[in-house]
This record gives sequence, C-alpha cells and structure tokens, in this order.
Amino acid sequence: MTIGIIGATGYAGAELIRLLLGHPEAGTLILASSSHAGERIEDIYPNLRCRVSAVLVSPEAAIAKSDCVFAALPSGVGEPYAGAALKRGIPYIDLSADFRFDDDEGVYSAWYGKPYADPGLREHSVYGLPELNRRRIQELASKGPVIIGNPGCYPTGASLASYPGLAKGLAGEGAIIVDAASGVTGGGRELSRAFHFPECSEALSPYKVGAHRHIPEISRNLSKMAGRPVRLVFTPHLAPMNRGILSTVYIPLAALTAPPGGNSTDLPPSKEILQRADEIRELYAAFYQDEPFVRVLPSGATASTRGVRQSNYCDISVHLDQTGSTLIVVSAIDNMVKGAAGQALQNMNIIFGFDERLGLGAAPAAF
Ligand SMILES: NC(=O)c1ccc[n+]([C@@H]2O[C@H](COP(=O)([O-])OP(=O)(O)OC[C@H]3O[C@@H](n4cnc5c(N)ncnc54)[C@H](OP(=O)(O)O)[C@@H]3O)[C@@H](O)[C@H]2O)c1
Repeated sequence: MTIGIIGATGYAGAELIRLLLGHPEAGTLILASSSHAGERIEDIYPNLRCRVSAVLVSPEAAIAKSDCVFAALPSGVGEPYAGAALKRGIPYIDLSADFRFDDDEGVYSAWYGKPYADPGLREHSVYGLPELNRRRIQELASKGPVIIGNPGCYPTGASLASYPGLAKGLAGEGAIIVDAASGVTGGGRELSRAFHFPECSEALSPYKVGAHRHIPEISRNLSKMAGRPVRLVFTPHLAPMNRGILSTVYIPLAALTAPPGGNSTDLPPSKEILQRADEIRELYAAFYQDEPFVRVLPSGATASTRGVRQSNYCDISVHLDQTGSTLIVVSAIDNMVKGAAGQALQNMNIIFGFDERLGLGAAPAAF
C-alpha cells in the first residue's frame, strides 16, 4: 500500500519513515513537507540514505495518492488535511492533539488556544490508545475512513501505568501524582533555548509545572479508567537523553485494598506489604497478558528507559511504598516509538486488520 506522511521532516515523521521501512505491507512512501518541498528526505536525514529516496511533496499531493495518511504536525494546523483524507475515503492518523479530546472542544481550546476548525470531523475520530480503545478503533474503521487521535507521549506512559490499578478499583481518595521525565526529542526538531546542548545536558529540569498541555489528556484517561473523576498532579521533567519517558505514578490505595495492619513510616516494608505488592503485580500482569507491547516486569525489577529504547514496548514495574498505603507504578516508553510513531503504526495495523506487531517487531536497542 501507499502511505503518506505529512510533516515528514519532523522527528516523529522521520521515526515513522524508519519504522515503515520495516513494515511488510508498506510499499511506496509519499513524504510531504510545507517548508522543504522539492528537497530530498535523505539530505535532511542521512540515516535514510540508500533506504528511501523521495522528493518531498506538498501535503495535498500526499493525500491525493495515498491509501493511509499519517500527520506529524504541530497541533492546530492539520484539520483541513484530515477533512481532505476523509473526503478521499482514507484513514488519517494524527499525532498532534487535535483529535484527542473528542467532543470536548472547551478543554481543547483552553489548553491549545484555538477552537476546532471543523468540529464535525470528531464523528469519525477516536482516541488511539489501543490498550484502552482497540475495539472502538476497529468498530469505526469497519464503518469507513477513520481519524485517529494518536495519544501524547506523557499520557501514554502515565495511562498505561495507571490503567489496571484504576480499572480494578485499587485507588482510594486523594490525587494521583505523576512525575515523569522525557528525553529531548520530545520537544521536536524546532529550536528552542531550553533544548540547546549546554542548557539541557548534565541537568534534570522540571518544566511547565502544573501547567503542561498533557494534564487534561492524562486526567481524562485516568478518570475514564477509574469510572469516576480522578484528581491529577503532573510534573514533567526534561532529562539529558535523546529518547525515552520514565513515569513514576503514585496511586493512593483504597483502605480496603491496602495490606492488613499497615506499617509505620519508619520501618522497612513488612512481609505482608511485600506480599501485597506481589499480588498487585500479578493483577497488572494478568490485566496486560494479551497486550503485545506492555511488559509487566518481574518482582524486584524496576522499569527503565534502557529496556525499551527504539521499541514500541511499555515496561511497567509495580511497587508499594514502605507503609503499604501508596501504589507506586513505574512505566518506561520510548517517546518516539510507543509515545508517537510506533503507536501510530500500531493504530494503522489495527485499522487495516494486520497483525498489530507488523513493523514493530525489532527488539529494543541495548544502548
Ligand atoms: N516528539 C515526540 O516525542 C512526540 C511524541 C508524541 C506526539 N508528538 C506530536 O507529534 C507532532 C509532531 O511532533 P515532532 O516532535 O515531530 O515535531 P517537529 O519535529 O517540530 O516536526 C513537526 C513538523 O511539522 C511541520 N510543520 C511545522 N509547522 C507547520 C505548519 N504551521 N503547517 C504545516 N506543517 C508544519 C514541519 O515540517 P515541514 O515544515 O517540513 O512541513 C515540522 O518538521 C506534534 O503534534 C507533537 O506534539 C511528538
């Protein structure tokens, strides 16, 4: 099949090209750029030399000739392209936030500074976190061309870490706290001072504290998973690495699900608490047993971005604090793969009824 990528010169676009080159059903790639039309992609990304030789075309030209289109554009610019893809009857997989909020235009416009350009497009769109919405994606895709709102990178890591705990009713009152650190590619290819090498290397810096655009997306996901409104505290950090997102999620346990007797804050975890942690880990493992890209780690292991580099895996480790009252779940993803291009490809596989793992089978890189 012929696949179009709009925004092919950005980081997520370039990662999509890399992954699609290993997808057995992907034939011709039509790569689109607004600012580099007429140039060759391998002159911008030398890793693609001898693998793909494509002259960048306009987004309209890519849509006109493709069987499926990915858009890796900033939020707020892609709706006309989505409309054009629908008109042609082909799926549109959007990596921006434009289709992540369904009918909740008020929340989208409050955080992204614009109303929807064409609210009616949401009739055809679905939030593309496969572990949460696989059936809905399949259902919409079976009815006609679908628009996927591919999830944000932080929301993917935080949501997968929280889903079993929330869906199984383990959470009690109180906010869920998400501390997460992202590699520098999370900011995209556009230059900005905080992302200059001397500014971000050898430093770990929180940013947009209490005000990051991913707050409403994470909060909405967690509330859906819990079946009730969930209060979220989210602090993102910029980490001195190219790829990866590590999220540490703190879920206050409901009294009934906490281990018996509790524990003093000053003592190491009791046998009962360690056993309860194991039970919750088992619950997570059972919850995700059929998911091809979620790996719940064995007891004693801790998720790290080292284990998922360049892969579509989300690694999860499950812990309890020493008092047994807080569930601590650590998740690790590669922001460019499960956090962006890999998840988008997973969604394409679901739409077309392919094995979900096609094009995503390479083992993680060790370093
Ligand atoms: N980086 C990540 O880890 C990550 C993770 C999840 C989701 N995302 C989302 O994926 C999208 C792309 O992210 P990215 O990191 O690849 O960003 P990026 O590196 O900045 O690339 C975005 C590309 O969009 C095109 N573009 C920029 N402004 C445009 C405009 N006004 N109209 C049309 N095209 C425009 C540019 O390509 P041309 O000028 O060549 O067209 C640019 O290369 C964003 O919405 C981002 O939030 C990124």
